[in-house]
Amino acid sequence: AEVVILENETAAGILAAAAIRDLIDRQPDAVLGLATGSTPLSVYSALAESLRRDPLDVSRVRGFALDEYVGLPEGHPESYRAVITRDVVEPLGLTPANIQVPNGNPATLATAGVAYENAILAAGGIDLQILGIGRSGHVGFNEPGSSFASITRVKTLTEKTRIDNARFFASPDDVPIHCMTQGLGTIRRARHLILLAFGAEKADAIAASVEGPVTSSKPGSVIQLHPHVTVLVDEAAASRLE
Ligand code: F6R
Repeated sequence: AEVVILENETAAGILAAAAIRDLIDRQPDAVLGLATGSTPLSVYSALAESLRRDPLDVSRVRGFALDEYVGLPEGHPESYRAVITRDVVEPLGLTPANIQVPNGNPATLATAGVAYENAILAAGGIDLQILGIGRSGHVGFNEPGSSFASITRVKTLTEKTRIDNARFFASPDDVPIHCMTQGLGTIRRARHLILLAFGAEKADAIAASVEGPVTSSKPGSVIQLHPHVTVLVDEAAASRLE
């Protein structure tokens, strides 16, 4: 992986946004893989700002969210469908019908993963996948123990992840226990990965991803199996790298 250490989140966001913009410029119907959580917010806001300053036709851009909670009521403000609409689709002016999010409806879980995987294949695959990483080492919601060949499917969130994500909910008990996530195999098939991480609490996960043994107990180490990965980190997140 190419590791770039930046002064702060804003600088990393500008760099990642430039890569996305270049891609859309070359390929107006590019397929983006969209992470949620706090990490990619600087990317989406830098891209929105860039598009305001210097407009580009993004009406044909397509997108696939990385993951979704299982069992939140439709329209719940913390569902990743709602988050993607609020933080990505609206500020960038993307075409809502072009953006897909895994279906977290408990009634259709058995088929939703394969359906999502097929939708990604039908779109020609993901050109650029934006990734964050959890303290647990998860990418997407592929918690430790996830197969490197996995496709979109239901997973159980670790206690650590539910605690980390409690900040978005009224109480920790409100954080769903299950999720639907792109698999590590799905992520491996994306043509370019941009993994971002900021802050000392991500330092162990970044060191394990970039330099540690390639093992499914460190899901981020999947990046070592990929030919085109860019890691954008601040000093604190880079602090455990050799
Ligand atoms: C989000 C996702 C997760 C987050 C990770 C880090 O779609 O799949 O892997 O990237 O939990 O979350 P933040 O960025 O909130 O620290």
